Amino acid sequence: MTTHASIRAARSRRRRMASAIALLTMIATQSAIAQKTKAPAKPPAAAAANMPSPAQIQAAVDAAYNKYKNLDSGKVADYIPILGKADPKLFGIAVVTADGKVYTAGDVTKEVSIQSISKVFTMARVIQDSGEMAIENNIGVDATGMKFNSIIAVEVEKGAEINPMVNPGAITTTSMVGGANADAIWQKIIGTYNDFAGRNLSVLDEVYQSEAATNQRNQAIGSLMYAYGHIHDNPAQATDIYTKQCAVGVNAKDLGMMAATLAFGGRNPVTGKQAIDAVHVPSVLAVMATAGLYDDSGKWLYHTGLPAKSGVGGGIIAVSPGKFGIGVVSPPLDAAGNSVRAQRAIADISAALGGNPYQVAKR
Ligand code: DON
Repeated sequence: MTTHASIRAARSRRRRMASAIALLTMIATQSAIAQKTKAPAKPPAAAAANMPSPAQIQAAVDAAYNKYKNLDSGKVADYIPILGKADPKLFGIAVVTADGKVYTAGDVTKEVSIQSISKVFTMARVIQDSGEMAIENNIGVDATGMKFNSIIAVEVEKGAEINPMVNPGAITTTSMVGGANADAIWQKIIGTYNDFAGRNLSVLDEVYQSEAATNQRNQAIGSLMYAYGHIHDNPAQATDIYTKQCAVGVNAKDLGMMAATLAFGGRNPVTGKQAIDAVHVPSVLAVMATAGLYDDSGKWLYHTGLPAKSGVGGGIIAVSPGKFGIGVVSPPLDAAGNSVRAQRAIADISAALGGNPYQVAKR
């Protein structure tokens, strides 16, 4: 395909996705309004959200784990050198329900770097502090239909009309976190991640060093977003903090908890802490639905209906609003950069639990 033909194809993919996003945003907004008006003092019990029984949930998690644990497909990322050393057999699943119960299978304690999943939570921080329009006006909320580190996607609209899930949008989002210096900005970012996860997370230093030494493409992207006026100051600092946020260590349980906090109106179902206001959650989920799995986002939404986000460390989070959050870790990735086992496990578990928000029970 010529560059022009691929730009036209990407634009037409964006248009096709627009109607799906509008529908999802409407459903999510209605659910946020309902949550706001009822303002439950405690998170609702799992049974209240039409969830299967605890035994059924655990059976669905076990079944997916057993079905895919020996699946030998995909390749661990190695464009960040240290990621090439990841254990391809690592596989852990965690589903977290409204009552804070955690259903697990496999290894849910081994940490991988959060990578692009971090983009969701930095975006959440910026929306919480500066409002929805700050992201929409400065970055955009449209799928690019291109790779996560595409420079062509920046060039098409001079850095506008992209989204916070691709690297140019994510580095710009990080540049929008307020703070007097790099440390203050970092404390805000990691503090937000901690609130979502319900524990203190830390940076995997080896991963940070490995990516910092090899992230010339991201440095170029940061400079380009500065040249186009989307990053207002110090693109090198924004890229460095972005690199650090991608190196935060998480296990499947952390990811399940972070997803569940989004599933339950921004409130961590175990600690009870409000990580972001419920009113902002629909916007975060809408961008995940649009662009969370990069150029395979449409296919993913078509099959599952779930807002999700992947990272090249092998993690994926997915959110069934009001029902559950799920986190899966398994390093081998497909051609689009999404964990192979994680996608399959989440799709199966969500189907078993009735997780698709577009699927309405017969009346
Ligand atoms: O900037 C990068 O390339 C990585 N730190 C993150 C990329 C990523 O996770 C894309 N995920 N599917």
